[in-house]
Amino acid sequence: MKRASALVLVLILGATVPRAAAPAIAIDASTLAGKVSPLLYGLMTEEINHSYDGGLYAELIRNRAFLDDAASPAHWTAVQGDGAVAAIALDKNQPLNATIATSLRVEVTQASSGHAAGVANEGFWGIPVRPNTRYRASLYAKTAPGFTGPITAAIQSDDGKTTYASGRVSGLTQAWKQFDVTLSTADVAATANARFVLTVERPGTIWFSLVSLFPPTYKNQANGFRPDLLQMLIDMRPKFLRFPGGNYLEGDQIADRFEWKKTLGPLSERPGHMAPWTYRSSDGLGLHEFLMWAEDMNAEPVLAVYAGYSLKGAYVKPGPDLEPYIEDALDEIEYVTGPATSTWGSLRARAGHPAPFKLTYVEVGNEDFFDRSGSYDQRFAQFNQAIKARYPSLQVISTVGFEHPENQRVRSVTPDVVDEHYYRTVEAFLKAARGQYDKYDRKGPKIFVGEWGAYETPFEPWNPRSRGEAPTPNLRAAIGDAAWMTEMERNSDLVIMHCYAPLLVNVSPGARQWRPNLIGYDALRVYGSPSYHAIKLFATHLGDEILKASATDTDVLVSVTRDSRSRTIYVKLVNAGAAAVPVQLDIAGASLRSAGTAITLAGDPQDTNSIDAPERVVPKTSPVTGVKSGFIYTVPASGIVVLELGAR
Ligand code: AHR
Repeated sequence: MKRASALVLVLILGATVPRAAAPAIAIDASTLAGKVSPLLYGLMTEEINHSYDGGLYAELIRNRAFLDDAASPAHWTAVQGDGAVAAIALDKNQPLNATIATSLRVEVTQASSGHAAGVANEGFWGIPVRPNTRYRASLYAKTAPGFTGPITAAIQSDDGKTTYASGRVSGLTQAWKQFDVTLSTADVAATANARFVLTVERPGTIWFSLVSLFPPTYKNQANGFRPDLLQMLIDMRPKFLRFPGGNYLEGDQIADRFEWKKTLGPLSERPGHMAPWTYRSSDGLGLHEFLMWAEDMNAEPVLAVYAGYSLKGAYVKPGPDLEPYIEDALDEIEYVTGPATSTWGSLRARAGHPAPFKLTYVEVGNEDFFDRSGSYDQRFAQFNQAIKARYPSLQVISTVGFEHPENQRVRSVTPDVVDEHYYRTVEAFLKAARGQYDKYDRKGPKIFVGEWGAYETPFEPWNPRSRGEAPTPNLRAAIGDAAWMTEMERNSDLVIMHCYAPLLVNVSPGARQWRPNLIGYDALRVYGSPSYHAIKLFATHLGDEILKASATDTDVLVSVTRDSRSRTIYVKLVNAGAAAVPVQLDIAGASLRSAGTAITLAGDPQDTNSIDAPERVVPKTSPVTGVKSGFIYTVPASGIVVLELGAR
């Protein structure tokens, strides 16, 4: 019999054709599969892509301490022309102090009323001008004999033709003195095509140091954060903040590590340091500011301590050589958690925070699987022993997880937690979302996925010129991220914390070192990538109980949780396919309300958000009616959905 006639016969007889089962998801609301970790979800941060200087840390002056480049006053230019003449140069002979050992000399040889000369700072890709806004400028200055000022501090257009705000500094002498001045804009149009200038209208020689300009900060905190950026993070309701890195913790060389003690105190006592992502950090956002940032978000710090390995391969031998680094880490923990009467706790109190911060987890190093000397096992053991001896309640995290061969992992002791990092393609995450963590030993260490992110293109994150892609990911990547989050959430009895990386990117030309990143911004604006919206959606619809859910005949990925107090059930569904999928939701053991809500992130998988089109891919909320066990819900193509289902 030919195949076509056999098919006709089968269709006529009907009964011999097996019926395809309808795609279905069975949820058992009567049995808990586990408790949601109280630390889902969180954030990871480091100084990369101008995350702090030129990003979250609200300072507007670039190279404020004149230490960024030893050869020239980078990002500063002379203001002259039209009958005004000025020369600028770094000067090591007139240091502010031993920490800021270089100043800027400005020699004005010609200037007169209406023909001002001086110096301009370009800011971090422009100075953001907003209407009706007060800026706080501060600077150290001294002069050569014969000149006492005044100096005009102003925010003006790049071409110098429009002054948006200005103020005066007078009473300069031959000794260093700090001056503060408030600059207020009127009802001007917002722009970032602006610069900060310090000018005079008669000849004289002036030295400047630590020139700073702050816009209004979050809650008006001194030395604080950009409110729009911080609000984006607060809106994610993070439970923890992992800091200070990442590679930023380690530095390229041991001398470039994050030396937390040098990031404390007045800005004039912070030298800053060369960071691994090709530029210097001012360290204006230092240890204390990290802690305040976590507190502002109502999140707990997850503190990474330098563990004696730096990126280019230098390491400290375990044993006596490592002891000073261990002492340093113990001091750091005391700064965070010690009483205000302790040596380091008292410094924290003096900085304005007498109460200790909550600290549960300390991470020893970062990605120590790169240490080919094999020293991590012993270094970790030495840190672990010392931390536990002084702080028995702290949980200690190893930086080598089960994604690495056993001989790279810590073997001589069992870490409380291991940190796994996953930068993967969307396809790899879709695969991993089908049970990677089911295979893990529940009696072993807990898992912290301290860095993860999906790539829609081959992995080449650190090449900023690579194929000219967007700095932030598209919807397709967000689907990979969401798939991976369902896996971590379902297993959050084991995966107690996780966080996407990198978090922040200044999207101005030349500012980034990595792609993709979660949140993009320039001097004036900020936007969330589709991945940002996916994470926020997951984090803000969570509850505290994991319910058992299993899918039949569908590739749709699922995670189901419940809020034990309100009884609300959250069903997260991820459809990576190009067609919408109707799924039957069989929910046993719950008395469901018939009206629910769907929050959906869906569309063209290649679509993305950008600084000019910030809301192309954003979640949409719609009602769901007829909710009962066995109801059909159609998951949109390339879609991420959270169903919020009320129950009694
Ligand atoms: O997230 C960017 C970098 O990726 C981190 O600094 C490092 O830990 C990882 O290799």
